Amino acid sequence: MIFLTTAIDYPNGSPHIGHAYEKVLTDVLARYHRLCGQKVYFLTGVDQHGQKMVRTAEEQGVNVATLAKKNTKKFTKLLDALSISNDGWAETIDPTHKACVQKILQHLHDDGQLYKKSYQGYYSIRQEQFLTDQERDTDGNFGPEWGEVEERKEENWYFKLSEHTAWLREAMQSNVVGIEPAFRKNEVLNAIEKAESTDLCISRPKERLSWGIPLPFDEDFVTYVWFDALINYISFAGYLKDDDSELPNFEELWPAHLHVIGKDIMVPAHSIYWPCMLHAIGFSDEQMPNLLVHGWWNIRGEKMSKSLGNIVDPMELVDAVGTDAVRYYLARDIVTGKDSDFDTERLFVLFNSEMANGLGNLLNRSLNMTKASLDGKLESYQHDDEECQLVRKSHASLLENFPQKMAEHDLRGALEALVSFITDVNTFAERTKPWELKKDESKRDQLTAVLHHMCESCALASILLQPFLPDAAAKMQGQLNAAHLAELQIKDLQWGLLPAGQTINKPKPVFPRLQAQETD
Ligand code: MSP
Repeated sequence: MIFLTTAIDYPNGSPHIGHAYEKVLTDVLARYHRLCGQKVYFLTGVDQHGQKMVRTAEEQGVNVATLAKKNTKKFTKLLDALSISNDGWAETIDPTHKACVQKILQHLHDDGQLYKKSYQGYYSIRQEQFLTDQERDTDGNFGPEWGEVEERKEENWYFKLSEHTAWLREAMQSNVVGIEPAFRKNEVLNAIEKAESTDLCISRPKERLSWGIPLPFDEDFVTYVWFDALINYISFAGYLKDDDSELPNFEELWPAHLHVIGKDIMVPAHSIYWPCMLHAIGFSDEQMPNLLVHGWWNIRGEKMSKSLGNIVDPMELVDAVGTDAVRYYLARDIVTGKDSDFDTERLFVLFNSEMANGLGNLLNRSLNMTKASLDGKLESYQHDDEECQLVRKSHASLLENFPQKMAEHDLRGALEALVSFITDVNTFAERTKPWELKKDESKRDQLTAVLHHMCESCALASILLQPFLPDAAAKMQGQLNAAHLAELQIKDLQWGLLPAGQTINKPKPVFPRLQAQETD
C-alpha cells in the first residue's frame, strides 16, 4: 500500500505551514495504516525543475542546481523537524527519475501519443503554460492568478490528452479514479469538458529553458515541469527501474492507496493530466489513483503570501512550541478537505487543554498514585462498580469510533473521540478520588481497581496517539514500562492491555504546558 504526497517546489523561499500540514496529514495516515498492520510505503519529495527555478536562480545570482540543492535541504530539515516517516524520497533531478521519464516519453512517442506542432498564443510565465480564451475572466482579461502573460509563437510537442478524456469522464463518474471529498468531483467533471478540445503541451524549447529533462527523441526540447514532476509518483516507486536499483518493487506497491494533494493542484494536473498520462502509458482501471484533496490554511480568511507578509514558518513554530504541539494542531484544527484559519492562540489553547491538562494530567496522576499507593505495581482486583463500567464503556466506544473516523480520513474527528475518552477518565478519577481511597485500608480493592482503570486507559491512549504524536506516545509507553504496546495493532486493542503485576516507571511530564503567548 502506497501513500503519496506532492513534490514541493517553492523556488522563492522556505516551506510554509501549508506544506507542513500536507506532510503531517499524510504521515498520520501512513502511520495509522502501519498501526493497522498494513505494509506501507510513504513517498514524498521535491520538484526541482521548471522555469520558476531558473528565474529565481538568476535573481539570486546562483547556479540553478545550487538553488535546487539549497531548497531541497530546507525541505528535508522540515521533514525531520516534523518527525515525518517517509520511506521514499523523490528528487526530480535524480538520474533514476530522469531515466524513467525518458523511457515513458519514448514509449508514448513510439505509440503515436505525441505530436509536434507550432502554436501562437498567450503564455503565463507564472503557471508555465499557454492560455486559451477559456482562461479569460468575464472582462476578457487573464486574471491575477496567471501572473505576467506574454504573447508567444513556439513549436512544441503535444500529448494527445483529448483522446483520453472520454475514458476519464467515465472513470471519474464510476469512481475508477477516486476523488475525496466527493464535493470536488463536479469541479473535475467541468474541467474535463475544457480538456476535451485541447491537448497538453509537454515540452519547452531548450533555447528558452534548458533546466529540465531532455526529450529522448528531440534534443531541442526539455520536458514540461508538470509532466516530469507527476511521474515522480511512479519513478521513485520503482516503475521501470533497473535490475540493480535499490528502489522498491513497483508491483508490490501499486495501485497507490492515496495521493494526498492540495485543492489548487487537483485541476488540471492531478485529476486530468495524471490519470490520462497513466491511461496512455498503459495503466489499467484498477491501477488508477485515489486523490485525497485537502484544503488550505489561511490567515484570518486570507491566503498566506509573501506580499501580505503573513506566512507562518513551520521551522520557527517547531522551535517555539515543539514538534508535538505543531503536529497536534495541524491534525486537530482543520476538517480534512476544507480550509481553516491558522491561529496560534488556538494552537496554545487546544494543546494545553487537551494534551497538557487532559492527557498529561491523566498520565501523571495515574502513575503518581500507582507509585504512591501500590508501590508502582498494578495488582489484580475484584472490585467493580458503575463508575468503572462507565470507563470501560467509554473505552469500548473509542475503539469503535476512532478507527471509523480514521477510515474516513477525519483526523480531527478521531482526535475528538480520543479527547472525549480522556475527559471521561479524568472525570472518573475526580469522582472516585483515589487519593481519598488510599487513606482507608478497607477500600484497598476499590483503589486497586480505580488505578488499574486509569493506567489501562493511558495504555490505550498511548497507542491511538502513535500516528499523531509518535514521540509523545513512545514516552508514555516508556513510563508505563510497557514496550509491548508499541508492537500491537489496532485489531489487538481491547480492555486488558496491562496485566496485573505490571510495574510502572516514574512519571515525567510528556506534554509540558506551552507558555501562554503575550497578548494584550
Ligand atoms: N510542485 C508542485 C507539486 C508537484 S506534485 C507532482 C506544487 N508544489 S507546491 O510547493 O507549490 O505545493 C505543494 C503542496 O502544498 C500542494 O499540494 C499545495 O496545495 C500545498 N499548499 C500550499 N499552500 C498551502 C496552504 N496554505 N495550506 C495547505 N496546503 C498548501 O504544487
